[in-house]
Amino acid sequence: MSESQRNGKLSPWWRRASFLTMALGFSVLLLLTVKAYHEAPPIPGKVTSPDGSVLFTGEDIRDGQQVFLKYGLMDNGSIWGHGALLGPDFSAEYLHTLALHIATSFAQVRYGLPFDNLTPAQRAIVEAEVRTELKQNRYDAQTGVLAVGPSYEAWFRHQSSAWNAYFSSPVKNGGLGAGTIRDPGDLKQLSAFVAWTAWASVANRPGTTHSYTNNFPFDSVAGNTPTADAVLWSALSLVFLLGGTAAVLLAFGKFDYLGWQARPGYLHPKLLGARVTPGQRATLKYFALVALLFLAQTLVGGAVAHYRADPGTFYGFDLAAWLPSNLLRTWHLQLAIFWIATAYVAGALFLAAALGGGDPAGQKKGIDTLFWALVIVVVGSLLGEWAGMRQMLPQLWFWLGDQGWEYLELGRAWQMLLAVALLFWFGLLVRALAPALRNAERREIAGLFLCAAIAIPVFYLPAMFFDGTTHFSVVDAWRFWIIHLWVEGFFEFFVTVMVAIIFLQFGVVTRLTATRVIYLDAILYFTGGFIGTGHHWYWTGQTSFNMALSALFSALEVVPLTLITLDAWDFVRLSRPVADIGHQRVEVPHQWTFHFLMAVGFWNFVGAGIFGFLINLPIVSYFETGTLLTINHGHAAMMGVFGMLGVGLVVFAIRQTVDEALWRDLEKYIRVGFWGLNGGLLMMVVMSLFPAGILQLIDVLENGYWHARSLAYTGSDLARLLEWSRLPGDLVFIVFGVVPIAVAAVRAYFDGRKTIRAAGVPLL
Ligand code: HEM
Ligand SMILES: [Fe+2]
Repeated sequence: MSESQRNGKLSPWWRRASFLTMALGFSVLLLLTVKAYHEAPPIPGKVTSPDGSVLFTGEDIRDGQQVFLKYGLMDNGSIWGHGALLGPDFSAEYLHTLALHIATSFAQVRYGLPFDNLTPAQRAIVEAEVRTELKQNRYDAQTGVLAVGPSYEAWFRHQSSAWNAYFSSPVKNGGLGAGTIRDPGDLKQLSAFVAWTAWASVANRPGTTHSYTNNFPFDSVAGNTPTADAVLWSALSLVFLLGGTAAVLLAFGKFDYLGWQARPGYLHPKLLGARVTPGQRATLKYFALVALLFLAQTLVGGAVAHYRADPGTFYGFDLAAWLPSNLLRTWHLQLAIFWIATAYVAGALFLAAALGGGDPAGQKKGIDTLFWALVIVVVGSLLGEWAGMRQMLPQLWFWLGDQGWEYLELGRAWQMLLAVALLFWFGLLVRALAPALRNAERREIAGLFLCAAIAIPVFYLPAMFFDGTTHFSVVDAWRFWIIHLWVEGFFEFFVTVMVAIIFLQFGVVTRLTATRVIYLDAILYFTGGFIGTGHHWYWTGQTSFNMALSALFSALEVVPLTLITLDAWDFVRLSRPVADIGHQRVEVPHQWTFHFLMAVGFWNFVGAGIFGFLINLPIVSYFETGTLLTINHGHAAMMGVFGMLGVGLVVFAIRQTVDEALWRDLEKYIRVGFWGLNGGLLMMVVMSLFPAGILQLIDVLENGYWHARSLAYTGSDLARLLEWSRLPGDLVFIVFGVVPIAVAAVRAYFDGRKTIRAAGVPLL
């Protein structure tokens, strides 16, 4: 007998358990974050040459980080594996070339020969000396002085010319405009920053036998090999995953009411009586904007992919001079965040009106105002990024231009405006849901809706906790509070709430089932998701304490994703177009919404669950981070789950708003769009990203991380071929996926305005 049949209401323990999971998860995450401040690799006050003169200062390192950001280099290459993949991993490249330089000078001093002419035994001796030299930590915490040897000094002095060579042509740097940085002062500071990141990645952390970055990047010449902890916690995290899965399967076996249960007296999901409120109608322009931003994002993405396949020229045109790859990549990421967020903002407003039973006074005005605020943030920040990267905002680059931190590139002023706009959105939701909050039947689900909504702006606030001068390790801690907690915590929660409300409104599940599924998912997502944030911090200056906890808990993130497969059949049954009796087909007006929700489930399991877990063990991440396997996971999960939900919300709103004649016209676009998006994404993953990721991983294992990220590998024929093989999938995705959806959304807005139905029944 189900819990609902026993007592007709949900046990208060669901609420308590969700709250407890959140409280515990956050306590541990806060502890890890506080430790990030204490354990970040030290920035020396001075770095001195063997003769005692100052080679560079801590100021230079901090200023160099700002140069790195101001010129958008985090959207070109990476530091400690975090950043873009068009250029090299700057710290790994510096470390490796430094190691070779030291080897050359040791070979000369000891044997009077070039390194390559040594006998194997002599080489082994020199290599051991190189490793000892690099691993020795010469930083004095009392004086704040890092005293480096002569080879360090010589190599540092060589950096300006190395950068000049790098910036000389797009072919060498993955599509930056020629001469991106020319100022000698900027180049010196940039070198100081990168030299310091390389030092922190190899010198032993005091009291341990590994570096501040847990020996990342892998480079046996420099003495960087996986730590014992990376192996140990990988193995133990597998046990956590098995244990967690078993516990959940046991619970599902014992309590038959868990999951998406169809309600007794089953109802097929029809389009229920519909009067579109003025506020709901006003959201149609958001969906048209969503579709246009989506189209822009994918076109820009195609250009970025081209830079990877052929950085020198864009079919004979010097694109890098006008739209360099770091700018396009910044836009690609920002547009993705914007269109998906806009779809959620509008989808939530649409559903809130349905749940609340209508518009409160002035709601449409508020929705229109919010729309224009979002347009200003989108257009302003994208233009700012362009102007900032062109160095047209010498004083204001941080505020109005490109802050440079990957995923959070938009200037601080735009971030603030966005945060205010999201809080205003929350206010609109509260108003719309007020009647539901007063209704005993709907109170709980409306409250959960608001919790899911407020979490999005609240967890954007850590973006304000740092600026260009903050320590890289600390910034990475806060950056992933946003990125990770959004995608692996609150967005997943938001998806569940949205789906539950849609099913509830259709009447195919009971209130009890909808609420219970929300709590269950919250508990499962938050158990692994909060502490799991640390899987992004394995190599960014935190200790093995973080590695241990985050490896164990992020493995648990896969449990609810595996559960999707157990629950999938119930989900399909809820939306089935075949009647129980007589097995005739029943028209399901929202069948495309359901198709998109099923796609969300599929990609959640494949993109987030399988591809996320593939790179989650510390011992895999050690070799893999910042390679195409991360891109493989990022695309399959981000587009597959949150992108598909965004498009699903677009389709839902269109279906619910336009009249039958227009719908019949638009449906064919949506049908093609659905298959185009899913087929294109699958092709992208299967034909390019996954095999290319595996090959790049093999290259890391064989030749070291620096190699797999350098032109020596990425410029090879095979690597380039695999980049080109992205093209068919990208084309299918854009031409048969994005374009038809954009046509449907734009037409729904323009044509729909003329034909919107105006019956008197409440919507849904
Ligand atoms: C729908 C859910 C998810 C989305 C949208 C998502 C998205 C992303 C994105 C965009 C990145 C790239 C971040 C970067 O550039 O550093 C990433 C990295 C990563 N994700 Fe996910 N992810 C999801 C779920 C998961 C899950 C469930 C796991 C594992 C259990 C996971 C594990 C990882 C790992 C280990 C990285 C690599 C970080 C690195 O190399 O530094 N993700 N994810
Ligand atoms: Fe994550």
